[in-house]
Amino acid sequence: MGRAIIISGSPGTGKSTLSSKLANDLKMEVINLSKLVEVEELFSEIDTDRDTKVADLDRLIPRIVELIDRSEGVVIVEGHYADIVPSNLVDVAIVLRTHPKILVKRMESKGWGEKKISENVQAEILGSCTFNALEAYGKDTVYEIDTTNLSEDETASIAREIIQEKPEEYKAGRINWLSLLEADKELDKYFS
Ligand SMILES: Nc1ncnc2c1ncn2[C@@H]1O[C@H](COP(=O)(O)OP(=O)(O)OP(=O)(O)O)[C@@H](O)[C@H]1O
Ligand SMILES: [Mg+2]
Repeated sequence: MGRAIIISGSPGTGKSTLSSKLANDLKMEVINLSKLVEVEELFSEIDTDRDTKVADLDRLIPRIVELIDRSEGVVIVEGHYADIVPSNLVDVAIVLRTHPKILVKRMESKGWGEKKISENVQAEILGSCTFNALEAYGKDTVYEIDTTNLSEDETASIAREIIQEKPEEYKAGRINWLSLLEADKELDKYFS
């Protein structure tokens, strides 16, 4: 029976980039949730407003458990709602964070519309992925990396350190865009 490492974070924070680097370095298998939902048609409806498929969790969760079960080693599960993986299978959860200003740029370069960008950047400001991961796995299991000023390789090297050594300095709860933007009088820009 395998174990899972969770890579979560708002869209554009670099989950897929990090996961493929870790998979290469640590010889782990990756489950990308959106791809799995797409390929195995594990969705219940299509949200045309947001141009996304809504995952059918009643089918998706047992399927992930099956894939982890079948694996011999550690499986990376990546996606912005990767906290759906049952906690008894999870060794460590890493949430990637990115300053809203930079995140907007990364989302724009994915060609996303204004509404989708605005909703996702608001979720990042509120720390939704961290909140969900903490609720699912507890504070001893959840770590955060601020990728804003890091290269892709630097992010991967910190992630490896977290997986191997679980350093205190990356424990979740230290990143707070809300107060940073408020102090810079920039919060209104994102919640108008
Ligand atoms: N650590 C990093 N530092 C700077 N840029 C990065 C970093 N990681 C990824 N990027 C860049 O940010 C963009 C988004 O990365 P990626 O597609 O991996 O994000 P994602 O979290 O998987 O997004 P999605 O949820 O939409 O799948 C890419 O252009 C990538 O090159
Ligand atoms: Mg991705």
